[in-house]
Amino acid sequence: MNLNPDILKRLEELEKKYAATGQDLVSYLDGLLFSDYLTYWDYVHVDTLLTLQNPRTKFPDEEIFIIYHQITELYFKLCMNEFRQLSDKENVDGKFFLTRVNRINSYFENLVRSFEIMVAGMEHDQFLKFRMSLLPASGFQSAQYRKIEICSTDFIRLVSKDHRDNYSNDSSIRSMFEHIYWKAGATELSTGKKTYTLQQFEDKYSEELIELGEEKRSSNLWQVYKRLAQADRENPKIIASIQLLDVNVNVNWPLSHYKSAVRYLQKDPEDIKATGGTNWQKYLPPRFQKRIFYPELWNSEELENWGKSWIAKEVFGLTLD
Ligand code: HEM
Repeated sequence: MNLNPDILKRLEELEKKYAATGQDLVSYLDGLLFSDYLTYWDYVHVDTLLTLQNPRTKFPDEEIFIIYHQITELYFKLCMNEFRQLSDKENVDGKFFLTRVNRINSYFENLVRSFEIMVAGMEHDQFLKFRMSLLPASGFQSAQYRKIEICSTDFIRLVSKDHRDNYSNDSSIRSMFEHIYWKAGATELSTGKKTYTLQQFEDKYSEELIELGEEKRSSNLWQVYKRLAQADRENPKIIASIQLLDVNVNVNWPLSHYKSAVRYLQKDPEDIKATGGTNWQKYLPPRFQKRIFYPELWNSEELENWGKSWIAKEVFGLTLD
């Protein structure tokens, strides 16, 4: 049989590839001969994916709640993939940087837009019932959400603003972790003690998050930005892209999320207790938290008005192509 020269060329290349590691091409060709074709369902693990929704009650809308949380975690995973590319690559240039940050922004913008699925997409009565079987679990325990923050900025930016002045950028991550902002939010309404939701989260994730903080000390997004060439650092598109990230993660997503808490949990005269037991009305609104990744990039008025809706709108108007 006369083999097509293209095929012969590939066979020679494959032979070289396997010979370089002392392996036999013929065995691999046998493997190819006997193996079945790949299918969509095996590649994407569709069947497994569809077994991962396990409601705790009989209310049909609970499945919406579970699936939307899972969708969010997958988008968070996409963000982590971009952060990893940014910190793993040596000599990141402006183009690579901008492409990755824009991707993270587009993931967050999809989440912000789709949050309506939570706000308006479940029956209020069903929600108030099925949530009681989820205690004390809460989205507060999303480790990927915290990892995104750690990858975005210097750790000191995540220290609660009341304690930040006691630390510097060189302080140990472990000592700063003691006063990480989210602990302040997770206090029990009645006793002022750490919520059990927080205790569980700390038992499972504290060490991992401290380790990530150490790892990202010199490779978080802000540090990668600071290592760009001067022309890239001063490129308005690059500056706008990380400003937008700051607003997407610290204002737009928290605002759309807060809207859902208000829709389901706000009830006069007394608000409904959250599953994580936090003082959520004081904790969740971004204008109280004032989490800001890149204060150097904002003017005093913008910092002052952080978390109020104007800033979100204003920055959304930027074009980032
Ligand atoms: C009806 C929908 C939702 C309601 C009513 C709601 C409510 C709340 C409340 C009250 C808190 C404060 C902590 C607590 O005491 O539990 C919280 C925190 C949180 N939730 Fe949700 N949530 C909803 C959907 C989601 C979704 C879909 C996600 C996606 C993963 C999510 C992620 C988070 C995160 C990351 C926090 C911590 C926020 C922070 O520390 O600033 N939530 N949520």
